[in-house]
Amino acid sequence: MRLTDCHNFHDFRRLAQRRLPGPIFNYIDGAADDEATYRRNTAAFEDVDLLPRVLRGTNEVDLSVTVLGQKLALPFYLSPTALQRLFHHQGERAVAAAASRFDTMFGVSSLGTTSLEDVRKFAGPQVYQFYFHKDRGLNRAMMDRAKAAGVNVMMLTVDSITGGNRERDKRTGFSIPFRLTLAGMAQFALKPRWAINYALHEKFALPQLDGHVNMGGGVLSIGKYFTDMLEPSLNWDDLAEMIKDWGGPLCLKGVVHPEDARRAADLGCAGVILSNHGGRQLDGSRATFDGLAEVVDAAGDRLDVMLDSGVQRGTHIVKALSLGAKAVGIGRAYLFPLAAAGQPGVERAITLLRDEVIRDMRLMGAAKIADLTRENIRFRRSA
Ligand code: FNR
Ligand code: LAC
Repeated sequence: MRLTDCHNFHDFRRLAQRRLPGPIFNYIDGAADDEATYRRNTAAFEDVDLLPRVLRGTNEVDLSVTVLGQKLALPFYLSPTALQRLFHHQGERAVAAAASRFDTMFGVSSLGTTSLEDVRKFAGPQVYQFYFHKDRGLNRAMMDRAKAAGVNVMMLTVDSITGGNRERDKRTGFSIPFRLTLAGMAQFALKPRWAINYALHEKFALPQLDGHVNMGGGVLSIGKYFTDMLEPSLNWDDLAEMIKDWGGPLCLKGVVHPEDARRAADLGCAGVILSNHGGRQLDGSRATFDGLAEVVDAAGDRLDVMLDSGVQRGTHIVKALSLGAKAVGIGRAYLFPLAAAGQPGVERAITLLRDEVIRDMRLMGAAKIADLTRENIRFRRSA
């Protein structure tokens, strides 16, 4: 199976599975508890039907949107994710380069394996994904560093004050840096291409957290990082202070309740991302597409409402935009392509998704994103 054999999410996933050591594939693919939210996230899109309009002469299609004060050439963006150099040795550089080529938004994670400064060298709309630590000094240092690097938009993730119960990771013992235990060695032998690339390229590091995460003495699990290092008492007062300290646009990632979106707007947030972290945190949390209309109605006139979690298809994006999302984030839909083939993989995934959205918009009779409205969709049954 080659990159040219990949035509959709499932193909990229399959190729990624072939290339990656099992624990790393399962870290990306897995979610919390019974993974019910993970499944519902994508299934939710199928409970809504599209109502195309005909005879509208839709030849040229304009996909551009403006969110958080930045213009994106595409209505979807690459959501910030951790540890990308574990998935492919080019890591964040490949993802940033691909996003930059398509002029869409990319966010480097607090747990990124490439430095914020290196990622900033790529042109185009970017955000910085912030995890709020117990160590307030670290938070301040991270904000100062982001300002110095010229970051414009801050994206504060608020759904991860403790680690989700990811049983696949418990079973595989997934940890960072990738462990050279007996099991780790076996993975190296099983996936030699990945192993050679991992061994020959830059040493694994978390440059956003320089000096604050001690990996020297051993390994760190993601659950342990969340639980030991992130501030569980994070509250609205902390947010108000952070908005003041940051001084630029700030959006909250991981909002599900419409009341929280309203409150974020009251405090002056530039946006909220309706997200359940791809089902990786609280299993049973509402699928984001199921809750989108309520959140848009609560605060969509005062801030930019975006959505991620479960998006795999152009029609998913068209449906979310029709319900009122300003832009749509993808996670695994670019991570599997990254793992499968590095930058060309991510570029192929973006191209396919872009072409799907253009085709879907033409078939819907919509020439620009603003033409997509609730008039274009019907819910099949109420939840
Ligand atoms: C994530 N996500 C995430 N979010 C965040 O705010 N900071 C992070 O470091 C990460 N890391 C991360 C790693 C991996 C492997 C995944 C799959 C996800 C969540 C991500 O930004 C996004 O919300 C989800 O991926 C969206 O769901 P889908 O598109 O993967 O279904
Ligand atoms: C995850 C992180 C790091 O979901 O946000 O694994």
